[in-house]
Amino acid sequence: MQNILNTIKNNALREIENIKSGDEYIKLEKKYLGRNGEFTKAIKDIKSLAEKERPIVGKIANEIRIDLENGFNKIKEAVLETAGDIKGSVFSFDPTLQSKKQEIGHLHPTTLIQNELMDIFASMGFMILEGPELESDYYNFESLNVPKTHPARDMQDTYYIKPDKKLCSSQIVLRTQTSNMQVRTMHEYGAPLRAIFPGKCFRNEATDVCHDNSFHQLEGMIIDKNISVANLIAVMEEFLSKVFKRELKTKLRPAYFPFVEPGFEVDMNCIICDGAGCPSCKNSGWLEMIGCGLMHPNVLKAGGIDSEEYGGFAFGLGTTRMIMMLHEIADIRLMQSGDIRFTKQF
Ligand code: PHE
Repeated sequence: MQNILNTIKNNALREIENIKSGDEYIKLEKKYLGRNGEFTKAIKDIKSLAEKERPIVGKIANEIRIDLENGFNKIKEAVLETAGDIKGSVFSFDPTLQSKKQEIGHLHPTTLIQNELMDIFASMGFMILEGPELESDYYNFESLNVPKTHPARDMQDTYYIKPDKKLCSSQIVLRTQTSNMQVRTMHEYGAPLRAIFPGKCFRNEATDVCHDNSFHQLEGMIIDKNISVANLIAVMEEFLSKVFKRELKTKLRPAYFPFVEPGFEVDMNCIICDGAGCPSCKNSGWLEMIGCGLMHPNVLKAGGIDSEEYGGFAFGLGTTRMIMMLHEIADIRLMQSGDIRFTKQF
C-alpha cells in the first residue's frame, strides 16, 4: 500500500513539473486528486488495512496529499500565473458572475433610538454626556438625596461590587439610573447647563416581559434661572411627538423620586393594545415612560449650585421601553437576547 502511494506521488510530482498550461494543470489535478483520481482511489483502500497499519499508512497518505497540493500550488504560482495563462481554466475570472453576498451588520435598535434622541435633544441645545456604568454609591444614591438608610433604596436594588480597599474607599455599584450623572455634571460644568446622558443601567430584578436586569435610559437635565413645571412639560411633549411621529395620549401624574420635588411620571397610552390593556402595560392601558420633576434643592447643593438663584428639572426615560412601544415588541427580554432573527428586523 505504501509503495503504491509512493509511486503515485513520484509520478504525480514528475508530471506536475512539466505542466505548461492551465488546461494541463486541470487535467493533472483531476487525474490525481479528482473524485476518481489515482490518489483519491488509492486512499480508499486504507480502511481495509489491518487496524495496526491504518494510522501509519493514514499519516503517510496525508503527507503525500500535502506534497501533491504543494506541488500544484507551486507550479500555479511559478508558471501559470506569471505566464498569464489563466484563460479557460480554473483561474479564469468572469466579471459577470455574481459575487458571494456579503452579510453586513447594522446598529442595534437601542443604538438607533439613542442616536435619534440625541439628534432631537441636540437640536434643543442639550449637550450629550456619557457616564460610568460602574459608579460610586455617592453619585448613584447619596448625592441624589438617598442616604444609606433611606427606604427609597428599596426602589432600585442593584449589584454591589466589592471594592479593592486600596484603590477605592467608597462602595461601588452598577448604576441603577442615568441620574448618576446629575451631580457629576454640576461639578464639571456648574450652572446654567443643559445636558442629556444616554446609557445602560442595571437592577437586581426578577425578569418578566417588561423588566430586565439591564436596560437603557436617557436622562436629561436643565439648570437655569426661572425654570418651572411648564418648561418641563413643554420639553417632554416636544420630544415625544418628534420620536413617535404621531399623536399620543399622555398624562402627568405625581410620583416620588427622592431627587426631585415635585416629582412626576409621564405615562403614554400603550400602543401595543391601544389602551385596552395587555401584559406589556400590566393591563392598565398606560405605560410609564418618563420619570421627571424639578431639581431637589439638596441635589443642587450637592452639585455646588445655589438653589436660591438657580432651579431646574430632570427627566429620565427608558429607551428600551420606548423601542418596545415604537416597534410593538411585547417582551423586553428579546432586546438583549442576541437572537439574530429578532435583531435582523430593524
Ligand atoms: N432615575 C429615575 C428612574 O430611573 C428617573 C428619573 C430621572 C426621575 C430624573 C426623575 C428625574 O426611575
